[in-house]
Parts: sequence; structure tokens; C-alpha cells
Amino acid sequence: MFKNLSEKQKEEKFELLLSYANKIRNEKLKKVCFRILNDYKLDILCRSAGHDGIVGIPAGKRSHQNFDGGLIDHILNVVTHSYNIAKVYKDEIDIDLVLFGAILHDIGKVKIFDEWNEKATVKGNLNFRYLLVDHCYIGQQICERYLDEEKVDEKLKYQALHIIATHMDTMEKHMTECYIVSYADSIDADVMNCLSYPRNAINPITKNYIYKSENK
Ligand SMILES: [Fe+2]
Ligand SMILES: [Fe+2]
Repeated sequence: MFKNLSEKQKEEKFELLLSYANKIRNEKLKKVCFRILNDYKLDILCRSAGHDGIVGIPAGKRSHQNFDGGLIDHILNVVTHSYNIAKVYKDEIDIDLVLFGAILHDIGKVKIFDEWNEKATVKGNLNFRYLLVDHCYIGQQICERYLDEEKVDEKLKYQALHIIATHMDTMEKHMTECYIVSYADSIDADVMNCLSYPRNAINPITKNYIYKSENK
């Protein structure tokens, strides 16, 4: 489960991500999405989604997708979940916004971890940017710059930014599309976190006992 992705696996996942970006119908939003994915491709592919080794949290703690390629793995899962949920409510919601928000919800993570280093003991080490402003704000800043450059309509711009800025489960949301991306994010993070523990272990973050079926 927690094996680093090969370069081929990373490329395949990135291609799938681009195919989701291609479903965005609003041409300006689509262009922004493609530009950001291409400009940050190398960062997206070489980073983990989760962190490890934070002072104050027991040693041996893991978080979701803390491996080389973990970020692209996580983003693609969140986009897949978000898109499938969005299709259920397609008559009531803006699928463009769900896709845009899901694809870029964690783009701020390209700046909050130390560079991936195979030899490092701590592979998803958080830097001062995370501690001071976190990835939601950094991601919102990155996206806002591109949305402005492409002259995306002001209201649509803030709707798109709202999804990125509030995607953590504790943040107050004002749009249905935000809930879809946020729950999809939590599903992947929680499931992958559970799967990362050995059978019948205590999760040191939540203190929950993790039971895994013998059938798998
Ligand atoms: Fe996030
Ligand atoms: Fe996420």
C-alpha cells in the first residue's frame, strides 16, 4: 500500500488527471487548470500527500499517502470521488467548479513539504510555510494568480477559490460544490490512512483500533 510510485505510474496518473481537466467546459477555467498542472507537474509528481515526524505526535505515526508520488495518487482519488458524487447531483450543481476545485484543492502542498528525498528518514517533512499559513492559503494564492491572468469572471473566480480555501473538513463552507470536494478529500485521506496500518493496530493519531477483515 505504501510503496513509492514508479515514474510510469506517476505519468499514467497525471494523464488521467489531465483527462479530468479536459472535462471542464468553461474554457478559461480549463485553461487555468491545464496551465497550473503543467507548470507544477514535477512538484506534483515528486511529493507526498501526507506528512510524518511532527514533534509532539508519537513516533511511527503516519498520515495518508506519505510516499513518493503520494500527492498525485491522492489528488486523482479525490477527483475521481468528487466527479462521481457530482454526477449524482449534476442538475443542481456546477460540475466545472467541482472538477476545478478537486484537481487543484491540494496544489498548495507543492510548497509545504521538504523536497522528496529517498534517503531521508522523514519523507514528508513539513516546512515553515505549512506551520505559518498552510496549504489551503498557498493553493488559493497560486490559483488566484492564474485566474487573474486569464481574466476569469470575478464571481466565478471567487467561487473556484472558495472550494480550495475551505476544503478542509473544519472550515465553514458556503457552496454545495465545496462539500463534495471536502468529503471526497476526507474519504480518501481516512481510507488511505486506515489502510496504511498493519492488521489490528491502534492508529496513533486518532487512537482508534483499526480492524481489518481477514478476507483481504
Ligand atoms: Fe488538503
Ligand atoms: Fe487533499
